[in-house]
Amino acid sequence: MHLKDLQEKVKQDPWRLNYHVMPETGWLNDPNGAIQFNGTYHIYYQYVPEDPTGGATHWGHMTSKDMVNFKQEPIFMSPENIYDPDGVYSGSAIEKDGEVHFFYTGNVKKPGDYDYIFSGREQHVVHVVSKDGFEVDYREVVIAHTDFPTGFTDHIRDPKLLEKDGHYYMVLGARTEKNTGSILVYDSADLEDWTYHGTLLEGDEEQGYMWECPDFFELEEQSVLVLSPQGILAEKYKHNNPHVAGYLVGDTDWEEMKMTPTTEFQEFDRGFDFYAPHTFEDDQGRRIMWSWMGVGDIMPEYTNPTIARGWQHAMALPRELVFVDGQLHQRPLEEYKQLRHNEIKRDLDQTTDLAGEVYELLIDFDQSAPFHLKLRQDTELIYDGEILTLKHGKSGYGRRKRMTPVAEINQLQIFVDTSSIEIFVNDGEYTLTTRVYPEEGQDTIALETEATGTVTYWDLEKTVH
Ligand code: FRU
Repeated sequence: MHLKDLQEKVKQDPWRLNYHVMPETGWLNDPNGAIQFNGTYHIYYQYVPEDPTGGATHWGHMTSKDMVNFKQEPIFMSPENIYDPDGVYSGSAIEKDGEVHFFYTGNVKKPGDYDYIFSGREQHVVHVVSKDGFEVDYREVVIAHTDFPTGFTDHIRDPKLLEKDGHYYMVLGARTEKNTGSILVYDSADLEDWTYHGTLLEGDEEQGYMWECPDFFELEEQSVLVLSPQGILAEKYKHNNPHVAGYLVGDTDWEEMKMTPTTEFQEFDRGFDFYAPHTFEDDQGRRIMWSWMGVGDIMPEYTNPTIARGWQHAMALPRELVFVDGQLHQRPLEEYKQLRHNEIKRDLDQTTDLAGEVYELLIDFDQSAPFHLKLRQDTELIYDGEILTLKHGKSGYGRRKRMTPVAEINQLQIFVDTSSIEIFVNDGEYTLTTRVYPEEGQDTIALETEATGTVTYWDLEKTVH
């Protein structure tokens, strides 16, 4: 379909979100290149404007002064070079000497009869320099596919940069020849010459066949490795989505460039739509995490009906990461309080008049107790027997049930948009993120509980026009 027709079609969709980053038309997946540069926040993303089911990705681009209101910018990079014809794949940004340096994966699929895992694919690390984050001034392959070490399949990608004591480190996600996940690490003094230092961490057979989108940073003097494993085995309440995203905390030996985890792999989110998280540090020193509010290979279990309306996927609300008792908690950015208006505050036994389609709900429980909360058309959040269950009916389009053990619940903060729900439990101890497609006018908020406490409701302002 012609882009103009697609734009018209998209505009008419009532499931367009009101306060989330989403593609103007077509497909969006991973967040890329997040940075605050000269006071402006930039977010880039995997983007295929002409096709809501995906294809060779560009880097779409939005900017913001406040992390709440985003401005659509022209496409930053397109798959038009010999080293990236099948996608300007994911990557990251870092500032050096007043310029922005980007690193991304140039994806190449050679024509022929290949499996594109063990053969037929090339993935190059490309270095891009920009004076302003808007124009590409310089671009060069710094690690060609043929430079990669042996023992790996053709899948080595998604460079993420880290600066420590004036020195640069790059991590890449990989799939080994044994179909296990692995993180490669390189270092550089100048961002141009890169030296391979082996693997930062290696997975075993139960931890997925490929580790995508690594992110490696220090928070409160601990190392955090974020990764998105494909094919990790589901356990009773864990890893129930086709691919999951999570993190490990540990110590790093910077001489040897090895990370020793001190925790197990922890899933970030317990909903249906959360993948490829990507962080940056802003000038207040906050570690902020963007994430794709979607996940690959969900069919046939569930789907997104917006495909028929010319677009698919969005970004989850940016979250601040903080350590609480050794666990990463995810909190919605303070800035999102700006969107609140028309406040209604009630005791928990006085909630029958609450209703809404685009809103924030803050529930403070005086004591942890079972509850049943119904939202929109047929979404239910049920807490009973120390299990939190998120359940959808028809409006989940195949999304049915996710269950999470939670010892006690004293607070819930819920962001509802036209077609998404993000639930923060206990000030960000757990999160559940999901797309949902209710019919218009389905605005039920029904809470049943024996607990005492208060609920505050706010309509949220529209930031996307
Ligand atoms: C993760 C991912 C990345 C890749 C990008 C391509 O969702 O598969 O590994 O760079 O998407 O769009």
